[in-house]
Amino acid sequence: MPQKSQLDMGASLDMAPTPHAGNIFPVTWVAGRVRLIDQTRLPAVYETVEIGTVADMARAIKTMIVRGAPAIGVAAAYGMVLALQDCLTAPIQTQYKALEEAADLLKASRPTAVNLFWAVDQMLVAAGRVGDASLHDHLLHTAHEIAHADLETCQAIGAHGLSVLPESPQQLRLLTHCNAGALATAGYGTALGVVRAAWAAGRLARVYADETRPRLQGAKLTTWECVQESIPVTLITDNMAAHCMAQGLIDLVVVGADRIAANGDTANKIGTYGLALVAQAHGIPFYVAAPRSTLDFTTPTGAGIPIEERDANEVLHIGPTPIAPPSVEVYNPAFDVTPAGLITGIITECGVYAPSHLSTLKPSP
Ligand code: MRU
Repeated sequence: MPQKSQLDMGASLDMAPTPHAGNIFPVTWVAGRVRLIDQTRLPAVYETVEIGTVADMARAIKTMIVRGAPAIGVAAAYGMVLALQDCLTAPIQTQYKALEEAADLLKASRPTAVNLFWAVDQMLVAAGRVGDASLHDHLLHTAHEIAHADLETCQAIGAHGLSVLPESPQQLRLLTHCNAGALATAGYGTALGVVRAAWAAGRLARVYADETRPRLQGAKLTTWECVQESIPVTLITDNMAAHCMAQGLIDLVVVGADRIAANGDTANKIGTYGLALVAQAHGIPFYVAAPRSTLDFTTPTGAGIPIEERDANEVLHIGPTPIAPPSVEVYNPAFDVTPAGLITGIITECGVYAPSHLSTLKPSP
């Protein structure tokens, strides 16, 4: 687990969490630009791209070079700094207008992950608090704080996750969906944070990773992260989860979240709802791991969560290979909503909450 001192950002505004052995940081600030791990190329190629404008950042979020709710939030926060950098010599009114436009652009990039909206709004609030001379430094400092806080939050989620692991003399088998790991956050991960903590505590036998059609984040990203850290991982296709449960191979399911409504209904990667249903059918605990910035108390139930629909080509192809007649009609919702009643508990940085008790949790500052 990274130490706080390794991530200390006090010395220089240019300093943000940077990758080092055993850790994966998908979004870093490097000398006035944002360096992203290109998640569309993993696991075949590890490559970073440098983003220098807010328009490029919005594109990177849309095309999923950076993805995962908290990572999108961190990237968008830095995107706001990029927008300001483009007009630093302009009158202050112009700078504020550029920030408003950048906020709209970034918020339009992906609709479901509420962390994106939360982080952009944090940046707008921060901008409103300072005079023109210190605006850039203050915004950069705020973006660093968002990144740093997310990393600490994930580590706390991992630690709280240990408390929900079933008592057993045996090491446990956990199942996860999509990628809610270091790549999807500032580092460490939410659901994979729990997996990492369980592994570090000697409680994990193995994690089963759903491949997660159509974008295959489980196959491409979750297994890659586990392999980096020698965490035992077994890849299964999405339609194998019920069979694995019936065979007694799974002790607990833990997934991430893109938006949690006030009543605990949870939007996460498409397929999560089905997984929750089969977990319930087999009496297997089903946990959501998420930071408070994923809670949306302004949306009363899951029915109000906007669900992103993505390009048909994601379903019509696996990689570059077509798998259906190109003219066939496609429906491609990127997320689904798991009703609160199917969720055993929500693991946050403040502890574990029953969905019905979420209202007792203070929203993210
Ligand atoms: O479409 P993606 O890859 O951005 O979807 C990611 C997920 O659904 C994750 O589970 C969620 O964002 C939580 S990430 C900690």
